[in-house]
Amino acid sequence: MIKILTIIGARPQIIKAAALSRAIKNNFSNKIEEIIVHTGQHYDENMSNVFFDELGIPNPTYNLNTGSGNHGKQTASMIKDIEDVLLKEKPNCIVLYGDTNSTLAGAIAASKIHIPVIHIEAGLRSFNKSMPEEINRIMCDHVSTLLFSPTKSGYDNLVKEGFKENNTPPYSFNNPRIYHCGDVMYDNSLYFSMIADQKTDVLQKNNLEKNNFILATIHRNNNTDEPLRLNSLFRSMNKISLENKIKIVLPLHPRTAKLLSQNLSEDVYASLKSNTHIVIIPPVSFLEMISLEKNASIIMTDSGGVQKEAFFFQKPCIILRSETEWVELVNCGSAKIADANDTSIMQAYHYFSKTSDLTYPALFGNGKAAEFICEEILKYIK
Ligand code: UD1
Ligand code: UDP
Repeated sequence: MIKILTIIGARPQIIKAAALSRAIKNNFSNKIEEIIVHTGQHYDENMSNVFFDELGIPNPTYNLNTGSGNHGKQTASMIKDIEDVLLKEKPNCIVLYGDTNSTLAGAIAASKIHIPVIHIEAGLRSFNKSMPEEINRIMCDHVSTLLFSPTKSGYDNLVKEGFKENNTPPYSFNNPRIYHCGDVMYDNSLYFSMIADQKTDVLQKNNLEKNNFILATIHRNNNTDEPLRLNSLFRSMNKISLENKIKIVLPLHPRTAKLLSQNLSEDVYASLKSNTHIVIIPPVSFLEMISLEKNASIIMTDSGGVQKEAFFFQKPCIILRSETEWVELVNCGSAKIADANDTSIMQAYHYFSKTSDLTYPALFGNGKAAEFICEEILKYIK
């Protein structure tokens, strides 16, 4: 029996961790014991608790209750508390997801006391270090022992950064192993897709007609914090919805909700308030989100995870960023980078609303990435 310690904290990590917890429960419960540590980076009911019951995630053994704060203060508080838990629990390895401050804190705390780091979603790069996530993922990758990249381009990024493809065991942070394997988010989307429509009434509740609405999410810090960009995004959404008489449903991240009135100009804010085609709702549960994604006609987002889920559910995606780590989506033609630029967003909308022959090749595995990751952990972590 090995003991793994999983760090979750932000919404997408809670969701991703569900795939591994499910694989452990179903196939490896006699070989892997999982201790879950929630940093408390996200803490609102609809950003955290809502996912546990719905996705069957075991309750965290520890909640560090870190809360919000500037990067340094937030990350430092997590490092200190994660170190305490690691020293107490003495796990065989730590499992980290993605690129949030919780990921970085786990990577620093574990590597300094020589606990092997398993990084799920390794190798992704935006090549834009002004994103906090880019710093977090680079730093985490470079102290990891097993690095699981969901895409070939992510794997190639690691090779370009000097990771060797032919290292042999025993693996360590000085001699790491890199993988191109499937995506645990794809595992989850496949698994929960069947029940999403039956178990939720999010379409009816918001008077949404199947394949006749746009789903949008916005939370990236440069979009919320820079008034010019935020105005541009909401001006575009107002225009698209009014000109085309199409609803845009926007489950709003608390970060964005808090900044709308502060960072939108008076006229954009006023037209948003009076626009009945834009439906702003609180963050939704994962099953509700999947139902919205499956039934939307187009998705507009700056989220990493939502870009990919658009692809899983074969929906065109307008990326509200200047670059993406998920370059495959753009290369396939089913996603377009529009940044926070009114003209590019309008052009992408018009293109996708008239184009029906988009392709969605199987790029993210077979829905069993979590099982593969568990097997590799069991092979190489002692
Ligand atoms: C974080 C991650 C980002 C990820 C996103 C997923 C970092 C640096 N960023 O961004 O990579 O895409 O989570 O959603 O780790 N807030 C609440 N309630 C909550 C959580 C947050 O009100 O439950 C508000 C607070 O005002 C907080 C702000 O949102 O200051 C930002 O939260 P934070 O966790 O720092 O960053 P995110 O923007 O959520
Ligand atoms: N998500 C959700 N409810 C919402 C918005 C998003 O369940 O209201 C899910 C979404 O389906 C995806 C994940 O949260 O699985 C993406 O998280 P987010 O956009 O917060 O972060 P990112 O992926 O950009 O790091």
